Amino acid sequence: MRKVALGVSSSISIYKACEVIRLFQSEGLGVRVIMTEKATRFIQPYLFTSLTGERTIVELFDDQQRPIEHISLVDEISLLLIAPATANIIGKLASGVADDFLSTFYLAAKCPVLVAPAMNEAMFLHPQTQENIRKLKALGVEFVEPDTGYLACGKKGPGRLASPETIVHHGLRLIKSREPFRDKVFLVTAGPTREFLDPVRFVSNPSSGKMGYELAREAWQLGAEVILVSGPTGLEAPAGVYLEKVNTAEEMREAVRKHYSRADVVLMAAAVADFRFKKTLSDKARKTEIGQTLEIEPTPDILEELGRQKQRQLLVGFAAETGRLGERAAEKMKKKKVDLMVGNDVSGPGVGFASDENEVTLFWPDGRSRKIPRMSKRKISQEIMAEIEVLLNERKGKS
Ligand code: CTP
Repeated sequence: MRKVALGVSSSISIYKACEVIRLFQSEGLGVRVIMTEKATRFIQPYLFTSLTGERTIVELFDDQQRPIEHISLVDEISLLLIAPATANIIGKLASGVADDFLSTFYLAAKCPVLVAPAMNEAMFLHPQTQENIRKLKALGVEFVEPDTGYLACGKKGPGRLASPETIVHHGLRLIKSREPFRDKVFLVTAGPTREFLDPVRFVSNPSSGKMGYELAREAWQLGAEVILVSGPTGLEAPAGVYLEKVNTAEEMREAVRKHYSRADVVLMAAAVADFRFKKTLSDKARKTEIGQTLEIEPTPDILEELGRQKQRQLLVGFAAETGRLGERAAEKMKKKKVDLMVGNDVSGPGVGFASDENEVTLFWPDGRSRKIPRMSKRKISQEIMAEIEVLLNERKGKS
């Protein structure tokens, strides 16, 4: 099992470290906590020992510790994360002071190092702190920018520890990043589109956008640059991902076109509405004026257009069906020149639209298929990325 060393220093936001541990564990990673002496004034080490199942390290010289543990632990970990990181620990790391376990361990660590600062706004913005951060960045240390908001001191400004989700998301990129994804641009579409009749009425579909957002998150963690073109959803874009919001199929088409030439991989996970009204009214129509019949026309098929203009791009399509999945997915794959089709039967309960889980079958142009049993959309996105990695490697082998 891969392991993260979590350095915890003395900030009021220390309680968020518990959630950081839980999130890493839910990704299948072990966590070993290292506390500074002053952090133990806020929380007893035993809390972290209970959460991780491993003894929390505080002292550099401790009878219960293996001799030179700061050296032996180095070989066990894939990431050193310091969250929360105070101005003091950042200053110590920047100047090479090694007077406790955490600062000594930093000098011995060979893995990537990620620092999530948490402090008062004035301390964070102080030129000395900023200079320390610049120095560490120049040495390859990565930072999770603190949030701006209300701080424990009652002031508002930058310095609040980033959310545990954002911290872990950055940490996972440093652990999981893989060569075939680095320097690659992934263009992902997600969510439904809305086709308006007037400013208050539209046709759409029940897509929540979850699958597309999970794919964007995963691609970023694997090391790619990710552009997410999203229809209206209630979701927050994963940190690091460039988000472009759209409403209609036409807007999605424009946004996708704009980025297509830079894209290496396109994942068309959006549920684009198939029809729009022939006439869109700029003012709200009274229902008595609308009448019995509304004229509709098809929306542009974005994926089909991408297929026609395809150069080096790898195209991944999605087909949500309520029967004859293999046959329909194969038809669409051919028509839209797709390199991998993700088909799912949305007639079953608890899968597909708006659900947290999905059950999909992958189809390839050479007739191969692979069924992925019911699992979370996060896990499904990992399975899809594993297949994309195979395709990217195949292409690299040919070029
Ligand atoms: N798609 C698209 N533009 C559209 C409709 C669909 O780019 N106007 C994309 C979807 O994002 C998906 C794939 O095409 O990746 C298949 O979408 P789907 O709705 O299953 O297929 P359609 O071609 O619309 O066919 P039908 O609705 O008749 O099944």
